[in-house]
Amino acid sequence: MTLTPAGMPPRAASDRPETVVRLHNLSKIYQEAGVDRTILHALNTEITEGDFVVLLGKSGSGKSTLLNLIGGIDVPSGGEVWVRGINLTRLSERELTLFRRDHIGFVFQFFNLIPTLTALENVSLPYELRGSKGQKEGQKRAQKLLEKVGLAGRAHTYPDRLSGGEQQRVAIARALVHEPFLILADEPTGNLDEETGSSVLELLLSLTRDLGRTLIMATHNPEVVPLADVVYHIHEGKLVSETQAEAKAQPR
Ligand SMILES: Nc1ncnc2c1ncn2[C@@H]1O[C@H](COP(=O)(O)OP(=O)(O)OP(=O)(O)O)[C@@H](O)[C@H]1O
Ligand SMILES: [Mg+2]
Repeated sequence: MTLTPAGMPPRAASDRPETVVRLHNLSKIYQEAGVDRTILHALNTEITEGDFVVLLGKSGSGKSTLLNLIGGIDVPSGGEVWVRGINLTRLSERELTLFRRDHIGFVFQFFNLIPTLTALENVSLPYELRGSKGQKEGQKRAQKLLEKVGLAGRAHTYPDRLSGGEQQRVAIARALVHEPFLILADEPTGNLDEETGSSVLELLLSLTRDLGRTLIMATHNPEVVPLADVVYHIHEGKLVSETQAEAKAQPR
């Protein structure tokens, strides 16, 4: 994998400039007791840079599976995932790890903070393996982001002393600290009460919009639908998309 001087992966000539994610015949099949279960079947779509994309679908429909494939956490059974012109299916494990570390931000339902690290250390984690200069830069950025998420005063607090909403705000800061061009959020409000969930959602949206980044969010929260640029429904292994313009045009 080659990186441009700015550290961003170059785009392939075949990708339109505004495409950030492209799925090509993407499939995921799990084997269970010797039987194949097709979770995602030959998905094809393109996601435009800067969009807020919402993934809807009932429990078990494959939302997390799809996010994990786009983020290079999991590997497809067939087809390809292209992110910014890079075919993730062609990367080695090490290249994938670096790709994730440098370009993707993850926000999970259960926050996934490291309990033995303070809020500040959790947020600066993406900089941990970048040498002492990188680590210093990471700390500076982490402190700034903790301010942005309203937790400047809790920088040296450990996760078990933070509320769920506070932990998720730390996780959002961690997901954004290295300015990834793609943020993947898997039910980020799923473990929070309604009011806390709304404020966390608002924060995540405004920070990603401010940075002009692409956000793909799997959720059961209907509150997010009117805010999305594109809504995908996963149903029986297929992806059906709906832009907000189409959604509004349809009589309900
Ligand atoms: N490692 C695995 N091995 C076998 N089956 C799996 C594995 N991971 C997920 N599955 C199955 O794939 C299907 C899709 O799971 P997934 O977690 O993507 O659903 P989801 O839409 O995120 O659901 P939820 O809304 O409950 O989070 C489920 O039936 C699940 O049991
Ligand atoms: Mg899930």
